[in-house]
Amino acid sequence: MTVNSDGIDFLVKRDDWKQSRFVEAPLPELAPQQVLFRVDRFAFTANNISYAVAGDALGYWRFFQAPESWGRIPVMGYADVIRSTHPDVAEGTRCFGFYPMSRHLVIEPSAASASKIVDGAAHRKGISPAYNQYSPVKSDAIYHPEHEDALMVLRGLFLTSFLADDFIADEDYFGAKSVLISSASSKTSIALGHQVSRGGRATAIGLTSSRNLNFANKLGCYDRVFSYEEITSLDPSTSAVYVDMAGSGPIRRSIHRHFGNQLHYDCAIGATHWNDTDGSNQALPGPKPTFFFAPKQIQKRVADWCASGFQERVGEAWSVFRDFSDSWLQVKRGYGRDAVEKTYVNTLDGNTRPEHGHVLSLWDSA
Ligand SMILES: NC(=O)c1ccc[n+]([C@@H]2O[C@H](COP(=O)([O-])OP(=O)(O)OC[C@H]3O[C@@H](n4cnc5c(N)ncnc54)[C@H](OP(=O)(O)O)[C@@H]3O)[C@@H](O)[C@H]2O)c1
Repeated sequence: MTVNSDGIDFLVKRDDWKQSRFVEAPLPELAPQQVLFRVDRFAFTANNISYAVAGDALGYWRFFQAPESWGRIPVMGYADVIRSTHPDVAEGTRCFGFYPMSRHLVIEPSAASASKIVDGAAHRKGISPAYNQYSPVKSDAIYHPEHEDALMVLRGLFLTSFLADDFIADEDYFGAKSVLISSASSKTSIALGHQVSRGGRATAIGLTSSRNLNFANKLGCYDRVFSYEEITSLDPSTSAVYVDMAGSGPIRRSIHRHFGNQLHYDCAIGATHWNDTDGSNQALPGPKPTFFFAPKQIQKRVADWCASGFQERVGEAWSVFRDFSDSWLQVKRGYGRDAVEKTYVNTLDGNTRPEHGHVLSLWDSA
């Protein structure tokens, strides 16, 4: 019997991300205190691939329920409340937050106010609070309807880079003169290069693959850009911090061997080169790579600056970065299953263009 349903979920095999499929699901009846979102649009970049890569280790598979051995990759986007049995969440509320690559999501708010709705579903317990939060657009200080696409594509990535730059600057750049940033053509790295350059206290050096060298060079957010093959031509006597967005074993080894003790810190953030992370970090000259956990830096700064002071600083920096992104970001909208699958496969294989920001929907049109 075919189920007449307008629910669709995009699933990825948890231990083999090359395998994906769509499943149809009937719209659920809501229990008391639940909210049904209609997922309108969401962004998809290499960052979402890293959620699959770290799905088990960092809990990303726990965001949304899925059939045994399959997962629903979290994406950032906008959705509208179309049904609510929760007294504090009105139908029609539009929210920014983490959604699955689906047409719908049911949440069970444990708290709801004009400025935030928190999913308290049992499977999400223990996940960092920032990840369980939905922000109604009406009280979101940096929301603007015309900026929705840029907010979806860049907001989360920018926040990570704002925090990483803030962390490194707060440590006086670990006494180093330059910040080496791999996957310089990625949006997260562009945001970091932009923040480091704005700070003006260290030189921002972008490292990228030769096919993306021209793009990264033209951006203007790095003081200098080199290809991965050119790492050994950098001056090894100039002290550096490495911010690793690529996660590549060979690139990491090349940097550590070239800079040795002149490398003052290795800040591990990303894994765009997810199929090249081989090799041990033992016997690596220089500092041990340290994973950067953005929510910890948020906690620190909310304590230092209070929540409104933190939001104010992020908001100011975001508006400068968003204006800058107009010079290079091209939003590519895609609707329906084929568009979602094609963007997923191309992003997984590293076959997307760095200037493209993919905004997708499982509905067939806007
Ligand atoms: N830990 C955190 O909290 C956090 C938060 C945000 C982002 N991140 C990390 O930041 C990284 C960048 O994410 P993004 O969304 O900004 O990326 P993006 O804009 O989609 O970046 C695309 C770039 O990544 C590289 N790349 C992508 N796929 C590849 C592949 N299969 N093989 C080789 N290179 C590939 C290429 O850069 P190059 O040619 O320049 O190498 C490509 O131009 C991700 O790994 C993500 O995990 C981490």
